[in-house]
Amino acid sequence: MLPFRAVKETTARAARPGGVRPIPLLLASLLALPVVAACDQAPSADSLPEWKPSDHHSLDDNGGAPASGQQAPAGKNAAAATDTAQLVEITWRQQCSQCHGAMGRGDGPNGPMLHTRDLADPEWQAKTSDADIAATIRAGKDKMPKFDLPDPVMQGLVARIRQLKGS
Ligand code: HEC
Repeated sequence: MLPFRAVKETTARAARPGGVRPIPLLLASLLALPVVAACDQAPSADSLPEWKPSDHHSLDDNGGAPASGQQAPAGKNAAAATDTAQLVEITWRQQCSQCHGAMGRGDGPNGPMLHTRDLADPEWQAKTSDADIAATIRAGKDKMPKFDLPDPVMQGLVARIRQLKGS
């Protein structure tokens, strides 16, 4: 009788507008205690089969350690490659294209004034090695400033400039 009345009173107080905020919290923590206590009790043998061990096994089969262990690095590498490609593209657009132009024709806003060469010119492409291109980017040339870039970005820029050939 007494505990029941106590719960009734608490519920009635919770329903009052003034007491709505603190009391549900208090109620929740009070209610949580018996639930935790119930979990601590040894489960009855009857309750175990309800968990269906077959479900558990199928989960393991799909997300087992060996399979995901092999897939994760591949996914990471793919993501890293995409990141580098994006970095190269951003670097080209932000650091190079104002002189060289989007297609490397030397037609960026500052290109004509600085006599920026046409990087798509097949003749220049033929007589220039990858190492030459990287060296120019690293050291600068005439009006072109030097750029201190991470190796993967440098390689990506060289490859990107190679793709301009004849475009
Ligand atoms: C301020 C303008 C400017 C910027 C920014 C600039 N360049 Fe240049 N770049 C030039 C000019 C001017 C030349 C021509 C220099 C020459 O041949 O005398 C040049 C030449 C080059 C060459 C050809 C070098 C050769 O062998 O003749 C490459 C490759 C090149 N730039 C790549 C880049 C890359 C990559 C970036 C960005 C990371 C970049 N440049 C940023 C102005 C610029």
